[in-house]
Amino acid sequence: MGSPAERVGMLISESGDIGTVKLLILSGGSPNGKTFRMCQSFVSALPEGWDASIVQISDGIAHCTGCNRCRTGDCVFHDDMDDIIGKMDAADAVIFATPIRFNGPSSMMKTVIDRFQSVWNRPDRLSARRRFFSFMATAGSEDPNLAPCTTIFRSFCVAFGGTWVEPFCVTGTDQNGTDPAGPAKDYAAQFTRAVSGIISAER
Ligand SMILES: Cc1cc2nc3c(=O)[nH]c(=O)nc-3n(C[C@H](O)[C@H](O)[C@H](O)COP(=O)(O)O)c2cc1C
Repeated sequence: MGSPAERVGMLISESGDIGTVKLLILSGGSPNGKTFRMCQSFVSALPEGWDASIVQISDGIAHCTGCNRCRTGDCVFHDDMDDIIGKMDAADAVIFATPIRFNGPSSMMKTVIDRFQSVWNRPDRLSARRRFFSFMATAGSEDPNLAPCTTIFRSFCVAFGGTWVEPFCVTGTDQNGTDPAGPAKDYAAQFTRAVSGIISAER
């Protein structure tokens, strides 16, 4: 059951806001790769009150061409992004999960980020609810450069008025063959405690 501070969903419902914390995890690594395994392990360790879904980003999402048609109307593309934007609209917390590739997020993940330009241009496409954002990464090396991911995902959080939560990275997945499953469970505890702490401090 966990302590009141761990039962984040219950804490929030006491304040009358929402019943459970809906968490969206966007996974942008290889299908069934280490990043996806990290996500599954993270979800398996979530405490009561968290309703999580993992979306594996497909490589069929069109790249934003910068046509700016979304300034006045809908995005010209209709693909998996419609579902992803709908899921983000309903989410209280969003975690971007990505492998580190050339020091940044995967290109699939960046494609998703860029396609949010249609929401940036039309903020009414996202309901005005409180959202927490973070990222979790896997990295082949022991000493990855996380600065580009921090900049990109944190900028996204700021752009959509979110609250930033400390990110996490499993290092050495190639160099040392580190299995991300164990560390991901620790991060689930850390992440939910952080969100719970922010909510408690505000009440
Ligand atoms: C194109 C590419 C670029 C990569 N660049 C980096 C890098 O800059 N730093 C690093 O630590 N690992 C790098 N890696 C290793 C991946 O981060 C690592 O293998 C990751 O755990 C793979 O996750 P996945 O199985 O979910 O795709 C790279 C891998 C690929 C395929």
